[in-house]
Amino acid sequence: MTQSTTPPIIPPKKLFIKTYGCQMNVYDSERMAESLGSVGYVPTDTVEDADMVMINTCHIREKASEKLFSDLGRLRPAKEANPNLKIAVAGCVAQAEGAEIMRRMPLVDLVVGPQSYHRLPEMEAKVQRGERAIETEFPAEDKFDHLPERKSLRGPTAFLTVQEGCDKFCAFCVVPYTRGAEVSRPPERLLAEARNLAARGVRELTLLGQNVNAYSANGYGLARLLREMAALPGVDRLRYMTSHPNDMEDDLIAAHGDLPQLMPYLHLPVQSGSDRILKAMNRKHTAAEYLAVLDRVRAARPDTLITSDFIVGFPGETDADFADTLALVRKVGYGMAYSFKYSARPGTPAAEKPDVETHVADARLQELQALLTSQQRAAQDAMVGREIAVLYEKQGRQAGQMVGKSQHLHAVHVTDATGKVGELVRAIVTESKTNSLAARRLA
Ligand code: SAH
Ligand code: SF4
Ligand code: F3S
Repeated sequence: MTQSTTPPIIPPKKLFIKTYGCQMNVYDSERMAESLGSVGYVPTDTVEDADMVMINTCHIREKASEKLFSDLGRLRPAKEANPNLKIAVAGCVAQAEGAEIMRRMPLVDLVVGPQSYHRLPEMEAKVQRGERAIETEFPAEDKFDHLPERKSLRGPTAFLTVQEGCDKFCAFCVVPYTRGAEVSRPPERLLAEARNLAARGVRELTLLGQNVNAYSANGYGLARLLREMAALPGVDRLRYMTSHPNDMEDDLIAAHGDLPQLMPYLHLPVQSGSDRILKAMNRKHTAAEYLAVLDRVRAARPDTLITSDFIVGFPGETDADFADTLALVRKVGYGMAYSFKYSARPGTPAAEKPDVETHVADARLQELQALLTSQQRAAQDAMVGREIAVLYEKQGRQAGQMVGKSQHLHAVHVTDATGKVGELVRAIVTESKTNSLAARRLA
């Protein structure tokens, strides 16, 4: 009799990840889960049965950062009940305050910055030995070269990070410090990743970067990258975000006009409508220059839905400056926009300046949000009766209903008893609801 050489079956460890922040963090969480998958972790949706809880953090505003500390507080009982539970902090707060977190929070086992997560397997081995692990360097090697292929995808849409970091140094923003200098990934790798995603059933790709339209590598700009991705079999829809107004080059605007796969949607943050404040923010463009960019995009593709980000209460913002912001919003007619109250971030130039009074900033934020909400409603209502294309992402909550996104990224509920996830269908919009459209499938 020969002895069996089958290794003992080790039950998988379970990983719970909570993700804050931008789409880039969403993408990173996926990739980190895959990286830990290579050392035996499977995802779980509940903290209670997790062997590792990871919080992928955002540092962009004070409120975002604070969430880490309240989450860690809530994890204390779980850690006391199960001392083998490992607690990991990833993302931009890890990058900015990693050493501080380690000092203040003994329950944290592992801290990993956004540029180091390919080191997770060796870090995990270290924490299993009972040590603590921290990596917040900007290593010379490319983390993407050291990550497993993407296998855990669900659904017909995917993010693909093509560029990271930022060289713009807007006066309020931490991203250049937490994510480092602008780096574009090689186009060959990205096209290979896109091909792999399409082969796994992904039909819509959103190319991500803090400054994605500044993408530049091996003779490719973003426009050429989009064109070559559009030519890949199975890639039916492309989007990209986030862009800076100063990097909307002619070839990219032209792509909006002649690349059918590129969706009529553009997220182009402006932050303020006041030239004085734009200058103080170091945005390096005026309100008129921003509007001119939008005119060119709309000339290329008239039905483009424009979205943006705004900051109110930037240091020194007067009533007149804020009125300029409202005026710009009225001129553009946004499909959707995020607006934030300015939050002083340690280490940024604007943090040195005195804040606008809280009640003034609060009132401005309310007024701006009311205007933006009414524009969002109007843009949605204008879709009623129109034919749209919907990519089904999941079954609806009601029977005979599918849920997906339109070209304009509107959430759509379609009455369709035989629809399947991943189908791209034509539909007529029948109703505009609070945060979604209702539609009927066309035969
Ligand atoms: N790279 C993108 C997005 C950066 S972060 C861009 O250039 O637009 C996303 C948004 O957060 C920003 O557009 C800005 O509106 C907001 N934001 C960034 N720093 C902020 C701060 N200190 N206070 C308030 N909002 C901020
Ligand atoms: Fe931040 Fe400005 Fe860079 Fe955007 S462009 S990430 S707002 S510094
Ligand atoms: Fe936040 Fe970092 Fe993204 S600070 S917005 S998670 S790049």
